[in-house]
Amino acid sequence: MPQVSCLKQVRQKYNLSVRALSKKLGIDSAYLSRVECNKVPASRALIEELAKSLKLDRQMLMAMNGHMPEEWQKAITRSPESAIRRVRSALQSDGARHHSVVAESLPEYGQQSTKTNGNGLHDPLADIFPPGYLVSPQINEAYELKLAALESANLTPEELLARGGYFLAINGQPTNHFRICTGASLKVGDGSSARLQSFMQTHQFKGSYATHGLFPYRGKFHPQMIKAIINVIGIKPGDVVLDPMMGSGTTCVEASIMGIDSVGVDVSPFCDFMTRAKLGGLTLAVEEVDATLTDKRLLKRQFEFLSSDQGQRAVADRSFAPQRISRASFDLIALAYLDSQGYARRSQRKNHEGFFNEVLERYLFAVKKFQKAHKSGRWRLGTARTIIGDGRHLELKDASIDGVVFSPPYSFALDYLENDASQLDYLGFPRESLSDRMVGLRGKKGEERVELYFQDMTAILSEAHRVLKPARYCVVVVGSNSNQLAAALGLDPESEEARLGIENRLTAIAAKIGMRLDLSIRRLIVGMANSMREEHILFLRKSSDSDVH
Ligand SMILES: C[S@@+](CC[C@H](N)C(=O)[O-])C[C@H]1O[C@@H](n2cnc3c(N)ncnc32)[C@H](O)[C@@H]1O
Repeated sequence: MPQVSCLKQVRQKYNLSVRALSKKLGIDSAYLSRVECNKVPASRALIEELAKSLKLDRQMLMAMNGHMPEEWQKAITRSPESAIRRVRSALQSDGARHHSVVAESLPEYGQQSTKTNGNGLHDPLADIFPPGYLVSPQINEAYELKLAALESANLTPEELLARGGYFLAINGQPTNHFRICTGASLKVGDGSSARLQSFMQTHQFKGSYATHGLFPYRGKFHPQMIKAIINVIGIKPGDVVLDPMMGSGTTCVEASIMGIDSVGVDVSPFCDFMTRAKLGGLTLAVEEVDATLTDKRLLKRQFEFLSSDQGQRAVADRSFAPQRISRASFDLIALAYLDSQGYARRSQRKNHEGFFNEVLERYLFAVKKFQKAHKSGRWRLGTARTIIGDGRHLELKDASIDGVVFSPPYSFALDYLENDASQLDYLGFPRESLSDRMVGLRGKKGEERVELYFQDMTAILSEAHRVLKPARYCVVVVGSNSNQLAAALGLDPESEEARLGIENRLTAIAAKIGMRLDLSIRRLIVGMANSMREEHILFLRKSSDSDVH
């Protein structure tokens, strides 16, 4: 088997041309090119020189390029069994699985910081990220740092500039993520508390950017995390990513922003509508919404139309074409109408019409902000197709998808139909019409509900496996929910079975279907008063030789 060199990636990480690196190493540039193209193997001497001049981990570089470091050889000769046992156990550990994802760029992890103070301490971030990589200052959890490290290891500087999630700048150039998020964060309502305002500020790079902040959908993803996941699993422009339970459409919106095409499926017609409105906001003609907002009579007429039966039917009808404005502008206005209905119900401060004005203004602010950033960066947006459908029976071809990213209901932790009842009623879909297809809501009580939940999740994962191309990833973000699960199953909360959260059960189901767990990243849910205190990001990989059914 030809040995694949990782020299090119190392060189690109350091922003060096072939000529510059060959000069640094004192070798012929034609030879370096041949090594990079895997035409000739990298010699030991070349690797030694590379490690020395870029201050990289020599042993790791040697191993990555098919040479056994002498120190390892000595350890094996001295005590072969124990050395092999240690390698084997390392391969089974989380760290090794992590390495399998980042394998091609491992040398970065050996990079030494050049900045030390008098005591020899240095910034440990310098061991993870190459110089010139400006990491988001809002990274404050271990899972974010892990995702950022994986992004940095798997993407070239150019790719990070275009679609990295956790970087603000690369070698002095602002990333597109920075362009989108910088400036005043999403406008919050007049009466919002100082706490909410400060939350919006600290989440500027995480969640309230582009059109992600429109409509407060419960249980939605952090879009920045989704961006990184899409990157880590190697999805690139030209590929298609699928979310079979799209909810408020975070995956589709984020994929579009990254220039990646997507398909989103949800059983709820409201989720479909909301996602289309958020996608439309990325490109709609802002003057149309501006005109509605500035002309008070026009605004009133829109409000009255949306309050009428005819208006309701128009919103629900995917083929409805408004006369004076585009469908995308109409959808944004209608989403603001539905959002403001919720505000009016919860607050005495204003009536529905009063909130409508305020919410639409906020939506337009977010849309304009994104479009301005997009104009300054001028990159291609991806296209998204949304489907009202059942994730257990996808109308998609076998092996047609490059990556699946989704978050299922966490068993029966949240009743999505009750949550969206008024919007579904407005669209003409009473909850009874959907409950037999809604994962997590089937069955009457306890054990039966749990059994049906895992039956449905088996169907969802089987479909994800069927539509995925071989060797590609299905990423599931799921809360453990072990306490609620144990209670429903009547288990002793201290028993081993009770502590087996949803994530372990889904991992076992996926393994049977033909998707093995490559990496699992734990994420704590802070500030939640309920029993579900952690989520897991499961990177499941479809085997490369599996039969496509
Ligand atoms: C946790 S939410 C997804 C949230 C989403 N990741 C986001 O960022 O907004 C789970 C979604 O699964 C959907 N769902 C439940 N059963 C489904 C089914 N059989 N097929 C497709 N979607 C389903 C629900 O309507 C809900 O929107």
